[in-house]
Amino acid sequence: MSSLSIRGIKKRFGPVEVLKGIDIELASGEFLVLLGSSGCGKSTLLNIIAGLIDPSEGELLIGERDITDVHPKDRDIAMVFQSYALYPNMTVARNLTFGLEIRKVDDKAREAALKRVATLLQIEHLLDRKPAQLSGGQRQRVAIGRALVREPKVFLFDEPLSNLDAKLRAEMRTEIKKLHQRLGTTIVYVTHDQIEAMTLASRIAIMRDGVVQQFAPPEEIYERPANMYVASFIGSPAMNFLRGRLEPGTGGLGVRVGEAAWLLLPQAPRGAQTGQEVTLGIRPETVTLANGEGHSCLDAVIDVLEPTGADTMAVASVHGHPVTARLKPGTVRDVGRPVRLAVDMSRASLFDPATELRIA
Ligand SMILES: Nc1ncnc2c1ncn2[C@@H]1O[C@H](COP(=O)(O)OP(=O)(O)O)[C@@H](O)[C@H]1O
Ligand SMILES: [Mg+2]
Repeated sequence: MSSLSIRGIKKRFGPVEVLKGIDIELASGEFLVLLGSSGCGKSTLLNIIAGLIDPSEGELLIGERDITDVHPKDRDIAMVFQSYALYPNMTVARNLTFGLEIRKVDDKAREAALKRVATLLQIEHLLDRKPAQLSGGQRQRVAIGRALVREPKVFLFDEPLSNLDAKLRAEMRTEIKKLHQRLGTTIVYVTHDQIEAMTLASRIAIMRDGVVQQFAPPEEIYERPANMYVASFIGSPAMNFLRGRLEPGTGGLGVRVGEAAWLLLPQAPRGAQTGQEVTLGIRPETVTLANGEGHSCLDAVIDVLEPTGADTMAVASVHGHPVTARLKPGTVRDVGRPVRLAVDMSRASLFDPATELRIA
């Protein structure tokens, strides 16, 4: 187990700066997920950690050891690719041990490593098959196994589940999480899937255009997004945004979002000024149907109901702005009727509409 330090990493391809200074310090045994939409620089960063691409600037350390200029094969890192990259003509067993063969590991140690990994991944019964005779999920297991036999200090995964169907993806996600809990190896995992990020990560680095927007544990990213980009990237249905103004009222400072709608803030944000324009961010599950009068309610009309089974999404309009509420099924039945929605303001976020940054 080892810590990983990514310091001031920049990457330029010709005139284009793809990574604009990445700083991430990982403790030993952490599960880092690099999350972001396609083209934001995730794979470039992962390949730099692997040593397959040279950074333009910056340095990398595993534990105390500077590996910036170390050859990929001497970095104690193993990578699992999206495409699996298995050798089609070799059996599963040979695919698993080939890397050790090249490193001149002796027969006995190779056998032991093979047995350990095959047991761990429950692929003992597949060892004599060729990759073509395996399902997608089995191939993925072999690809992971090939990385595991080397007992690396750091594991890199580049969108390892994106070629699998939804059910298998969920199963393999659980497998990877179990594997990490058992081995405790430091992992850097690239994905554009927010669910994978939320479920797997000890910390998420959410990237946009080669810049880390926020680097924090999943709960913090979800509850206290650093800016509106992060707020809207994580969570489904997405966070609702309403424009408003800070205004004092009964009980303290609140947000006025319309003629009749004023929502009390549990505490005034530091440096907040009366009259200041804000964007209020509220998660769909913090909006419920109000029973009776009270503060922090919005007058709304339900436009659409979208039952998903476990919940029903109610898309309402609040002074002409759409607000989605995640409700228990059966809470509301008819659309087009006026309702009052209660907002749990203790879980709301406030952003500066100009900079889109969170207001502390
Ligand atoms: N070898 C390269 N030469 C020029 N541009 C590249 C090269 N590799 C990647 N890029 C560009 O860098 C950006 C980030 O790519 P990448 O790291 O693959 O993104 P992601 O993995 O987040 O989808 C993209 O705009 C891509 O086109
Ligand atoms: Mg990529």
